[in-house]
Amino acid sequence: MTTLLIDGIGELTTNDPGLGDGLGGRLRDAAVVLENDRVVWVGPSAEAPAADERFDAAGRAVLPGWVDSHTHMVFGGDRTAEFEARMAGEAYAAGGINVTVEATRAASDRRLEANLARLVAEARRGGTTTLETKTGYGLTVADEVRAARIAGAHVDAVTFLGAHVVPAGEDPDVYLDLVTGAMLDAVAPHVSAVDVFCETGAFDEGAARRVLETARAAGLATRVHGNQLGHGPGVRLAVEEGSLSVDHLGFLEDEDFDALAGSWAASTAPSAGTEAARRGTVATVLPACDLSTRMPLAPARRLIDAGAVVAIASNCNPGTSYTTSMSFAVATAVLQMGLTVQEAVRAATLGGAIALGAHENGWRDPRGSAQPRVGVVAPGARADLQLLEAPSVTHLAYRPGVPLTAAVWRAGIRVV
Ligand code: NIG
Repeated sequence: MTTLLIDGIGELTTNDPGLGDGLGGRLRDAAVVLENDRVVWVGPSAEAPAADERFDAAGRAVLPGWVDSHTHMVFGGDRTAEFEARMAGEAYAAGGINVTVEATRAASDRRLEANLARLVAEARRGGTTTLETKTGYGLTVADEVRAARIAGAHVDAVTFLGAHVVPAGEDPDVYLDLVTGAMLDAVAPHVSAVDVFCETGAFDEGAARRVLETARAAGLATRVHGNQLGHGPGVRLAVEEGSLSVDHLGFLEDEDFDALAGSWAASTAPSAGTEAARRGTVATVLPACDLSTRMPLAPARRLIDAGAVVAIASNCNPGTSYTTSMSFAVATAVLQMGLTVQEAVRAATLGGAIALGAHENGWRDPRGSAQPRVGVVAPGARADLQLLEAPSVTHLAYRPGVPLTAAVWRAGIRVV
């Protein structure tokens, strides 16, 4: 048993209003004690207990590690040419996914794994301590199982996205039977959730509903890629089917805001910090993707004002958002989407944890181990923290583009 005292913290964001002020549960002149993989004490530096080791934060800001709840990081090749064409005026279309499918199928296990490990390391350097990633660039039974297996060795949550697009040249009905049948059966042991791209050019409402219902019958959680390229049924479907999250959300109408907010209203009355006690569908916005596809920014401000629970994620993938930077997503959410820094930081930490169902103790990682909750710095939570080379989280938006992450602890181990 080893304990580490991190003291001299100028500003500590706990995300627990019971521990500090405001939405972020902020404490000044604070300290944290870690014991093995958990946080065991949080409070004023002056009252901190002794520990085996000490790290002096020297007045800098500490916050939970980022929880990146939406990525597609098992892939081969890249799509530089497509990006250049887009920046020259071409529109993004789902068809580009098949380019990555071809490159992924052609890649060796070792190459896919090395690429994933590179991206995970990059994300860690940027302060990310919890990562979800999806399959969806294999689209055969063997290639989807392979992607899920490789992902499971490196990330915290794996989602099956066989219903990404219909592979080039295949019959849509035959493929849907496969995704909801033999492919799901083969991938299910390796994943905790199933996702579907419900969009023109991918899967329509009927097909998407079938994917979600089959997943639920198999005991898996669900997510939806929705309202990315135009208005559609994605949000309504996700809420009706009790999905953990619906992601993208560039094109929303009044009823979508109502549905997302309403999904949280059914049980405990909302009050700051009590999302953990309730269960609805998280609205996950992907600011880097909106910019990289030159699509409208998701209306995150209005979603929060309407009462939705919002998460911010990177959507790291080679087509629409080739970045692991959660700090960039947070800065964009503040500077372009109208969130306060506190709201954006919360959405990129606790919001992502709720989207993964990882905000409560006992959630299972892909290796089957029960994990302490993430997204907060509070006694009992997993010891996932980042130290900024700045006195406050405000600098994340005040100094956009500057790599401020100075140190990262994941499950109590210093990884950066
Ligand atoms: O979340 N929208 C669908 N899937 C990815 C994009 C995948 C790609 O273009 O390769 C996304 O943006």
